[in-house]
Amino acid sequence: MSQSLHRREFLGWLLQGSAVLASGLSHAHVDGPERLIASADEALTVLDFEPAAKRALLDAHYTYLSMGVEHEVTLAANRAAFTHFRLRPRRLVDVREVDTSLDLLGMNLTSPILLAPIGSQAAYHAQAELGVARAAASEDHLQIVSMGSSTPLAEVAEARGGPLWAQIYGQRFMPVTRHFLREAESAGCGAIVLTVDIVGLPTGRERIERYRRHENSACRSCHSSVGGTVGRGAVQMAQAIGLDPLALAARSMMLDWEIVDRIRDATPLPLVIKGILMGEDAELCVEHGADAIVVSNHGGRAEDNGFASIDALPDVVRAAAGRIPVLVDSGFRRGTDVFKALALGASAVCIGRPYIWGLASFGEKGVARVLQILLGEFRTAMRQMGTPTLAAIDESHVDRVAHRGGS
Ligand SMILES: Cc1cc2nc3c(=O)[nH]c(=O)nc-3n(C[C@H](O)[C@H](O)[C@H](O)COP(=O)(O)O)c2cc1C
Repeated sequence: MSQSLHRREFLGWLLQGSAVLASGLSHAHVDGPERLIASADEALTVLDFEPAAKRALLDAHYTYLSMGVEHEVTLAANRAAFTHFRLRPRRLVDVREVDTSLDLLGMNLTSPILLAPIGSQAAYHAQAELGVARAAASEDHLQIVSMGSSTPLAEVAEARGGPLWAQIYGQRFMPVTRHFLREAESAGCGAIVLTVDIVGLPTGRERIERYRRHENSACRSCHSSVGGTVGRGAVQMAQAIGLDPLALAARSMMLDWEIVDRIRDATPLPLVIKGILMGEDAELCVEHGADAIVVSNHGGRAEDNGFASIDALPDVVRAAAGRIPVLVDSGFRRGTDVFKALALGASAVCIGRPYIWGLASFGEKGVARVLQILLGEFRTAMRQMGTPTLAAIDESHVDRVAHRGGS
């Protein structure tokens, strides 16, 4: 072989971009004393943001954000259950290009990692939902805005500059539900996410109840939410005619499939049902015209059922049988977690607390960095697993770890 051929081959190889990175990285030293990160750029994993958020927040707000319900068995299970599944990497696949884009309910998304609805974000940072929207825009991720948003939906939509999904807690008292549906439609939302895992008013939130006994009352002002304002209007109306507003609200928030049908009929937007864990309910979601499902236990904040979301996912995917997309949330902290969910049949994954840790510590920059880290890890997982596209990820890339010596 001539010298010139060697040179041509070498240059071609360089141009394919398959080399050079190793120098300078091969001796990277990853150990070191733990310390709080001083800027979003210093974070190596999304978990670095949690202590930074704790430092930045009032104790009451951090307690509310981090807690689960009762013994917090479900909260812990959400993380532990990722070890029930292991990845089955395939080697020697051309993964120089990885593509994380997908089509979901008529939208073309560049990432399967979505921002879950979290209420009252002004409690975590002055930028609140607007900072999150700007970060979601810069990183091009889909944001789901809570009905309990601190900021009006139209303003969040403007800051995002692209479609959002709007989450609602449905009510039997349809005028309140219709109010939120119209608001979502006029803000240009791409879908309604109906959360069904909190039945009546939330209960079992013992950590925050204990906290309230010695709460600093000055902190109440930052909890206000747009949903709360509408709720307060309803409370005043109930009081004016001598009814117990809390009892009324609790009853109104106990939904059933008939109410789902009414909500389905009350909007032309796609309807996503969030908070499903059992295959039987997934089957009913399809029967009642839902356009997608989010497998979720509300980040361990609904009931303390011990059912991790990732453990519940396969049953729901089986029941949905490809008729509608299945999304999942609760406990996702690593790119490999996201990969496992997609391999088990999820179309996308939502994250909750991690982006709020980013918001609390560094505002918009923190949220952007959380999204960069997670998507970066997920891209690494795709390369390691030999899957250049989301369509290439399937059940052959994951298996369930057998229980040892148990029944
Ligand atoms: C502080 C907090 C507030 C939340 N608010 C809402 C909400 O308003 N609507 C909703 O559907 N889910 C809400 N969730 C649940 C999230 O959408 C999501 O299901 C959960 O946070 C995912 O778990 P992760 O935090 O472990 O990622 C909230 C969760 C937290 C932690």
